[in-house]
Amino acid sequence: MLDSLGRNIHYLRLSITDRCNLRCRYCMPEKGVTGLHHDDVLSYEEYLRLVHIMTKLGIDSVRVTGGEPTVRRDWLSFIAGLRDVPGIHRISMTSNGILFKDMAHKARQAGLDAINISLDTVNEADYAHFTRLGTVAPVLTSVDQSLDAGLQVKINSVPIAGMDLDGILDTAELAQKRPICVRYIELMPLGMGSSLSGISSDRLMQALEERFGPLVPDPKKHGDGPAVYYKPEGFTGSIGFISALSHAFCRNCNRVRLTADGALKLCLNHDADLELKPLLRSGAGDQEILDALEKAFFRKPTEHNFGAPVPDRESRSMNAIGG
Ligand code: GTP
Ligand code: 5AD
Ligand code: SF4
Repeated sequence: MLDSLGRNIHYLRLSITDRCNLRCRYCMPEKGVTGLHHDDVLSYEEYLRLVHIMTKLGIDSVRVTGGEPTVRRDWLSFIAGLRDVPGIHRISMTSNGILFKDMAHKARQAGLDAINISLDTVNEADYAHFTRLGTVAPVLTSVDQSLDAGLQVKINSVPIAGMDLDGILDTAELAQKRPICVRYIELMPLGMGSSLSGISSDRLMQALEERFGPLVPDPKKHGDGPAVYYKPEGFTGSIGFISALSHAFCRNCNRVRLTADGALKLCLNHDADLELKPLLRSGAGDQEILDALEKAFFRKPTEHNFGAPVPDRESRSMNAIGG
């Protein structure tokens, strides 16, 4: 449906857990967070009911996120459940790629179309330092297994000031011979993200051009997100940039988010707008939920306003939002 600014809202980011097997420094404290209580997390049946209702508002694409979605039991059957919702045409997932290893073929069979795998750098020491618990090898295996299974694959890198620049640029090389997109993401000052500094897309672009030659705009559409894509000469894949801070893309935003505990978020940087769990669990009918969702979608905020004081600034950390 169209919101009050005429933006076509058709993409749902659905977080199925706030838990994660890593502790990335820009996302989670070392000891982890006190996770949501089991009873507060929606069941797969509850998510599927909401997705089904949202298709009536034009949602046709669902991205499953976390925390780390693969830590939730039976996530594969949830993907299969999504595939069976009439009106959902694209199912994607964002994962850190560690537990996804050896799961790509099963995920494809279950109905997954695309996977975005987080890999901030291929520099082993930096990856271990910034994720606190990760190693690069299983992530790279997941990338290649996903390609082999026929999934569309993207890599997400959030470069952090202090990382070895060569390791960040080496990450782009993964797209040299593979048909994948490697995307560089500007660190957003959300939760733990406020305590570190990212690297701007312009700065990286310059470093990438010095290494790989001119970056030529890639007009092909890769997914539904805010990234812009380029191709260096001789690359099979593409290099993308998600520049939420330096080149805000809110004017074309197409998405809403659902947190694991059933809060509808209309913008990444604004607090939740509609708590769906009480509605679901008090016996509300589909029409009542649909009406509440329609009103909420319509009043989607104009922009994220990072950097400016926002009265309803998001208070959740990234692991509880799903990116
Ligand atoms: P596709 O391009 O469709 O593959 O997906 P995507 O880029 O939207 O999803 P992904 O989960 O890979 O997110 C990549 C990065 O983009 C993460 O850092 C997200 O937080 C960020 N991102 C996704 N959607 C938004 C948004 O609406 N606003 C902002 N500011 N950042 C977003
Ligand atoms: N800013 C930008 N991206 C972030 N991610 C997590 N926290 C932040 C942040 N503060 C990224 C992860 C993952 C995606 C879902 O969001 O690295 O790739
Ligand atoms: Fe886990 Fe993703 Fe947060 Fe890293 S950024 S701790 S992989 S949820």
